[in-house]
Amino acid sequence: MPRNPFQYGSPVGAEHFVGRAHELKALTSRMADGINVVLISPRRYGKTSLLRRAEDQLSGAAIVHVDVLLCASSAELAARLAGAAFRLPSGRWHRAKNAVPEFLHRLKVTPTVTLGPDGSPQFGFGGDLAPRELDQVLEDVYSLLAEDAPRRPGVLVLDEFQAITDLDEHLPSLLKGLADSYRRVSLILAGSQRHLMERLTGSSGAPLYGMAEPLGLGPVETNAMVDYLRQRAAGAGKPMTPEVAGRLIEIAGPIPNDIQRLAYCAYEEADGAIGNDEVNQGMEEAASHSDATYADLFSGRSPGQRRVLRALAAQPRTEIFSAHFAREVQLANAASVRKAVDALAGTEFVARDGDAWKVADPFFRYWLTWIFGATACDD
Ligand SMILES: Nc1ncnc2c1ncn2[C@@H]1O[C@H](COP(=O)(O)OP(=O)(O)OP(=O)(O)O)[C@@H](O)[C@H]1O
Ligand SMILES: [Mg+2]
Repeated sequence: MPRNPFQYGSPVGAEHFVGRAHELKALTSRMADGINVVLISPRRYGKTSLLRRAEDQLSGAAIVHVDVLLCASSAELAARLAGAAFRLPSGRWHRAKNAVPEFLHRLKVTPTVTLGPDGSPQFGFGGDLAPRELDQVLEDVYSLLAEDAPRRPGVLVLDEFQAITDLDEHLPSLLKGLADSYRRVSLILAGSQRHLMERLTGSSGAPLYGMAEPLGLGPVETNAMVDYLRQRAAGAGKPMTPEVAGRLIEIAGPIPNDIQRLAYCAYEEADGAIGNDEVNQGMEEAASHSDATYADLFSGRSPGQRRVLRALAAQPRTEIFSAHFAREVQLANAASVRKAVDALAGTEFVARDGDAWKVADPFFRYWLTWIFGATACDD
């Protein structure tokens, strides 16, 4: 039996990657030319997938890629940076008989070295890494990346960069200094929380202001997504028409992860061709899988926020900061609506789509109407 041809929940490779030719070209050329970039989108739009595609295309480049969210401390960040630098395929130390001691010569702060299960060296810095020592590790990594630039482009990618100040408040300023000194190395900062990313990079007075080019990721182009859905589904024995693919995107979009998740579920439901019924069943199946999670999320909000969620799930709405909408959701006035919506938007429960506000997660939206029907309140 063919495997489900859709993929969601984690970064995807070429066979599941749709469109974004323009963004990919923009990113690879800047990486190759030592230009700094800030890549921002809401969660699950495909930042990490795009980064990985760009990195794959820059053959021969020296690329250190670290996910900041995986680092619980500055010592762990330093260890991951050093590990990634050691693994650079083009690193000259690999030519030495003893690559590890040769590599350690390049670091001014000496890590501990242990051997992993596969025999590869793993670096550690202990829990008491002084801030100055992390600065030094970063500088050493920069210097390794710059070693053969521009013949061999050097790129430092920090994914989930908004988490950096949880580790150390002064790291953004340090990075600014390093990026200024090592002009041939491209620094790529990717993040999902616009307000935090802007605080770090986008407003005047921000530590990294003006040093990187902003690149935003929007939805994947609909026609390309329709073609992808149809080709993958047909290739795995369960075709769908352009109309069904278009409707699936309309229900689950615009976030590519959600489109692929619904396509995955519809594929599971279908015995033969995927039609509208299978898409509906897929939606129900996905929402019921998350029933307990959604119930917890919903009950964790204030009563006013819960009524706003129910109203926006029933129907996306434009004029929500009005006395009329406040009455509908039983809040005192438009300012109380604003407060509730700010709280919900800050945690990505609701989002603006053009002029309209809606519940951001299509599966949660479906669950809300499934549980409560199409009303804001129990009258
Ligand atoms: N270009 C694309 N074409 C089709 N689907 C995509 C594309 N990019 C991402 N996706 C879908 O989105 C999912 C998440 O992708 P990815 O992890 O790259 O996003 P992200 O923005 O890095 O997410 P997060 O904010 O959680 O780190 C993938 O599993 C895939 O289903
Ligand atoms: Mg990511």
